[in-house]
This record gives sequence, structure tokens and C-alpha cells, in this order.
Amino acid sequence: MPRARSLFRCESCGASSPTWVGRCPGCQEWNSFVEERVTAAAGPARSAVGAQPIARVGVDRAAVVATGIGELDRVLGGGLVPGSATLLGGEPGIGKSTLALQLAAEMARRGTRVLYASAEESTSQVRARAERLGAVHDDLWLTTEAEVPALVGLVDELAPTLVVVDSIQTVHDPALASAAGSVGQVRECAAALVRLAKERDVSIVLVGHVTKDGALAGPRVLEHLVDTVLGFEGDRHHALRLLRASKHRFGSTEDLGVFEMTGRGLVPVTDPSALFLDDRRADVPGSVVAPVLDGYRPLLVEVQALTTVGLPGQARRLAHGVDAGRLSMVLAVLGERVRFDVSGKDVHALAVGGLRVVEPAADLAIALAVASSLCDQAIPADVVAIGEVGLGGELRQAHQTSRRVAEAARLGFARAIVPRSAPEPPPGIAVLRSATLGEAIALASLPLP
Ligand code: TYD
Ligand code: MG
Repeated sequence: MPRARSLFRCESCGASSPTWVGRCPGCQEWNSFVEERVTAAAGPARSAVGAQPIARVGVDRAAVVATGIGELDRVLGGGLVPGSATLLGGEPGIGKSTLALQLAAEMARRGTRVLYASAEESTSQVRARAERLGAVHDDLWLTTEAEVPALVGLVDELAPTLVVVDSIQTVHDPALASAAGSVGQVRECAAALVRLAKERDVSIVLVGHVTKDGALAGPRVLEHLVDTVLGFEGDRHHALRLLRASKHRFGSTEDLGVFEMTGRGLVPVTDPSALFLDDRRADVPGSVVAPVLDGYRPLLVEVQALTTVGLPGQARRLAHGVDAGRLSMVLAVLGERVRFDVSGKDVHALAVGGLRVVEPAADLAIALAVASSLCDQAIPADVVAIGEVGLGGELRQAHQTSRRVAEAARLGFARAIVPRSAPEPPPGIAVLRSATLGEAIALASLPLP
């Protein structure tokens, strides 16, 4: 006779405890513990699915349906898979509803029926936005239904091929005791909607809010329930929006989608490098272009530095969009290994366009931008810089240097300052190899101290 005992488990993060606790010690969520009955394991049983040699297993290529929004299709590896569940997360106000509505409209325009369930806004608000976005189509249906069983009923009635639920935090199941938006509700509703997707072969997109620290509000298990997790990010003060997959059951998570938020919704940016360099003034000291990589996608970003005389003993180092730790390190190397006098200087370093540049591969560009500002002399406009700076002042190769150099060549740059070990460049661009930061500064036509 198997022995039963109880165990309490956090519905948010999965932590367990032999007794009930009000607040999870693991994820700090309140009232997330529920009782689970644990039965001692029985003996071996016959498997219904069996096992077979891998070579005999057939490959099921998921059929994808292009959404028609190029940058979204890029991230999804071609489009949406019928019967799949996708979670679209992002901070409030970043543009999730805008993207979801544009997706819904584009799919409707391509002849499939779409149901957009907006429990957050009224249908007339959604309609007003749709007009602005040019997203009014006959086969785009709206509802403000917030009860999941009724939503399932609507899906059965309308038989759409795509259902958007905006947002998962605002729908609920009246059969559950907990309040709308609670951890248990969000989890159960998401599970029911994911089941619906599989059973009816409809694609489901769940919109989810994330908190300031980037975690999805609600249970973390949400991410395990769905096939794909997309994160929508950007800086509120800039129009740039980046879409990334942090989980994708049907493809890679390496591709990056780039959009610009405009007065008429999100516009795909197919050539972000060109966008970032649009307003560049190359003749100003302190400006260098760095080819950075975001996943697979190379992007050319202008890195700027401005150095000014600081208050004695209180020099400030301000990093905007570049990593503060790497900026300090680069300044230390410039001071100790190249003998630039940075001690009394305030240093501002900036990645232009609202992008966050955290890669070590941008060290050399930051260092050259600072050196250029210190010398008050511009770096030639046709130069890009790629490389990690070591504490000894040596330059190290960044991964995928070839792809970065190729992107620079594509945008018309003639020379790339790179570490000594860098590979041969593609046609159209020359590489200037340097072993140390000092050599790189000289190659950028700047005077050494
Ligand atoms: P929204 O999609 O509502 O964000 P979320 O669903 O992530 O909370 O977008 C909010 C912001 O986007 C809002 O500040 C207005 C702006 N916006 C535009 O700039 N242009 C547009 O065409 C639309 C629809 C919104
Ligand atoms: Mg919204």
C-alpha cells in the first residue's frame, strides 16, 4: 500500500516545504504555496510509449505560418507554428499591445481569422488604436471577455487561427478561488489557454507584463508552459524597440528583431546599422564606430566619449548605454599602460541610439573614443574598432570578428582596427592589426602622450 504524505509547493518558483508558509523563501511571492499529495513510488510499470533507436525516429518539421511582420518572423524563425503558445513579455508602455494588434491585423489581412481578447482596454480603445495603425480588417474580431472558460467558448464559436490574449494577468477563471492576477490564477489560465492551442490547433499569443527587474509578473512557470518566450525591450526615451526570444521550441533564440516606434505604430527596421549611424558627425573628437553583435546580428553603433576637467579628487565617470565596469577598466588601462592623464577628468561615455552595449568587444572603441576626446582630435571617419582590452594593455580578439568586419564593409567603412590575431578581412575593407591599446591609438592617427 503506497504511503501518502503531504508536501507544499510554491506555484511560482517550484520551491517546496514540508509545512505551509505564507511567503516563499525562494522567490518572495506571497500566498503561493499549495498542498501537493505525494505518494510513495510504486514498482515498475509497462511504458505506453516505449523507446526506439534515434535513427528510426522521423523528423516532424513544424509548419510555420509567416506573420508578414518581417522582424517578428526573423525572431520566430519564419513565423508562428499552428497550435503553439507564445508569451510576449515586456515592461508596461513598451509597445506589447501595439505589436500584438499589428500582428493580429497582419494575420487577418492575410486571410486568417484572428480573435483579439483585450481584457485590459475597451473594444473602442482597441478600435481607435487599430485605426491609427491601419489595422481594421473584417476578419479581426475583438472581445473584452476576461473569463477563460467563456473565451474558450468564443474560440469554439469563431474558430480563429490566431488568438491574442492581452494580457494574461487580466484574465481569470471564476472556478478558481484566488483573485484575478494572483499567481495561481495566472498559471491556471495560461495552462488552460496552452491546452486550447494544442487541442484546437490555433496559435495563441499571451501578452505578459514584466516588472522593472525584467521578471515576468506572476509565476515563473509561465515560461515553462509556453513554446516560445519573446521579450520586447527598449528605452522609453528612444524610439528603438528590440525583440528577442529567450526560449523557442521551434528554432534558435539568437536572432534579434528591431523596430522603431512611430506615430503609426511599430515599423520594422531592416537595416539597424544604417539607422544608428544616420545622424553621426564623424568630424567631432570622441566618436568611434563599434561593430557589436546581438545574438547573430551584427550592428554598427557609434560610441562617444567626452572628457572634461572634473572637481579635484571627485572625477566622475558616467556610462550611458555602455557598461560602467568596462568603462572604468578601460580608463584604468589608458592611465596605467598608455600614460594618458585621466585622473582629474570627468568622463562621459555613451552608446548612441538607446542601445545597450555590454560586450567586451566594444572596449577598444570606448578606449579610442576617450583617447580621441582627451587629444581633442577626431578619428578618421572611415574607421571602426573591434577588440577586447586586457589589463596589461593588450588587445584580444572578439568572437565572430569576421562578421563584424563584414558588416562594417557593407556600410562603407574602409578600415577596421583589430587585434593582431584577427582573421583576414572580406574584400572592400582593410584591417589594421595592433597588439596593444597604444598601437591601436597610433593607428587611429591620434598622438600618444
Ligand atoms: P502599448 O502597446 O500600449 O504598450 P504596452 O502594451 O506594452 O503597455 O504602447 C504604449 C506606448 O506606445 C504609448 O506610450 C504610446 C506609444 N505608441 C506610439 O508611439 N505610436 C503608436 O502608434 C501606438 C499605438 C502607441
Ligand atoms: Mg498593453
